[in-house]
Amino acid sequence: MNILIIGQGGREHALAWKISQSPEVENIYIAPGNPGTAQEPKCKNITITVDDIPALLKFAQTHLIDLTIVGPELPLTLGIVDEFTQHGLKCFGATQAASQLESSKTFCKKFAEKYQIPTAKAASFTDIEKARYYAQNHPLPFVIKADGLAAGKGVVIIDNYSQAMQTIDAMLGDKQFGKASQKIIIETFLAGEEVSYFVIADGENFLTLATAQDHKARDNGDKGPNTGGMGAFSPAPLVDNLLEQKIIDRIIQPTITGMQQENIPYTGFLFAGIMVVKGEPYLLEYNCRLGDPETQAILLRLKSDLISIILAALNKSLTSVNPVWLSDVALNVVMCAAGYPENYEKGKIINGLDDAHADFAFKIFHAGTQKVNGKILTQGGRVLSIASFGKNVAIAQKNAYHIVNQINFSGALFRTDIGYKAISATD
Ligand code: AMP
Ligand code: GLY
Repeated sequence: MNILIIGQGGREHALAWKISQSPEVENIYIAPGNPGTAQEPKCKNITITVDDIPALLKFAQTHLIDLTIVGPELPLTLGIVDEFTQHGLKCFGATQAASQLESSKTFCKKFAEKYQIPTAKAASFTDIEKARYYAQNHPLPFVIKADGLAAGKGVVIIDNYSQAMQTIDAMLGDKQFGKASQKIIIETFLAGEEVSYFVIADGENFLTLATAQDHKARDNGDKGPNTGGMGAFSPAPLVDNLLEQKIIDRIIQPTITGMQQENIPYTGFLFAGIMVVKGEPYLLEYNCRLGDPETQAILLRLKSDLISIILAALNKSLTSVNPVWLSDVALNVVMCAAGYPENYEKGKIINGLDDAHADFAFKIFHAGTQKVNGKILTQGGRVLSIASFGKNVAIAQKNAYHIVNQINFSGALFRTDIGYKAISATD
């Protein structure tokens, strides 16, 4: 088979690495990929950006692509799956209509309310005065969110009213996120612990993939600004059988059934961001894709062939597959460029990539890297994702940092406590 993977981050490197192990696969193209994807067997990067759907379609047609797998949300919300399907090409992901679960927080909230999926109470606004009035009368703390896609930056936890007014003015008044903040939602704050829950769906049925926990804050102890994710581990010990059953019964199953009833059946990966409050799960948000950096942990644990699972979803035969997972914990640490998540440095030489060694298994995934004159340099905010295993979170953490400590570049920024809550819970 010829495979096209769309995207360029650590998640896509993990997908390319995993898919290259599939015996069915001959060639993998990654658009646009990164120096890490280019190094994997069978893999070749192509210089097409993730939002250039006509160019991606033409490439898939001329290179006889059997299956396209979409990493990030942008091409999904631009309708890549609809476009490829109309041209008779297999493309795995949510349709444009179904991806509204991620691309419109108002859509997601209304859907959750209609199907009685537990979530924080929220109201949505386009009018600045109405939003200000509602906020002034809402008990603190609460949360203001841009309705549309804002690269993880459109969520502000509000703990005083002047911050609320500033946020509303910036989003609705100054259109801080352009079209994405023409509408905002204001919702109740949920205090609890977050987990990422991943399923794959075929329109009618779904299969649980894995649980994970991300670390969104930049600094140790969950302090500092929100980021795309500074590290993750899988599985999340917080999700025991009872909690998992609640997540399935109250959140995932009503979503798959509800989307069918809405006539926008959900096919693709589905990632529920869940807040666990005193043992009860609440939906924070849906993402219509795999998470980054969760994928770099999850795929390390998958023993089965990913392509067969994706093909089963496309053939509506998910109920017949039974993937095998390693019971070990996989944990990854994201190494970032100085200044991330704001303006960050680029072009720093990365040392240690080829020499890193250990007497246990590990994997270095690239994200924001570039290759110049044979050297690997930093290019993005999140530069690398270093993953390893262990019998428990503590060992997986120790192993991952053993590798992190062998890699360096000027200004490298990373948390030194990925997995800390799970470790202290078992102390
Ligand atoms: P979202 O993009 O909606 O997942 O929000 C980004 C992050 O903001 C989440 O991962 C949470 O850490 C936090 N967050 C969002 N909504 C809430 C809420 N209602 N209560 C508490 N924290 C929230
Ligand atoms: N790890 C969070 C995300 O992928 O959105």
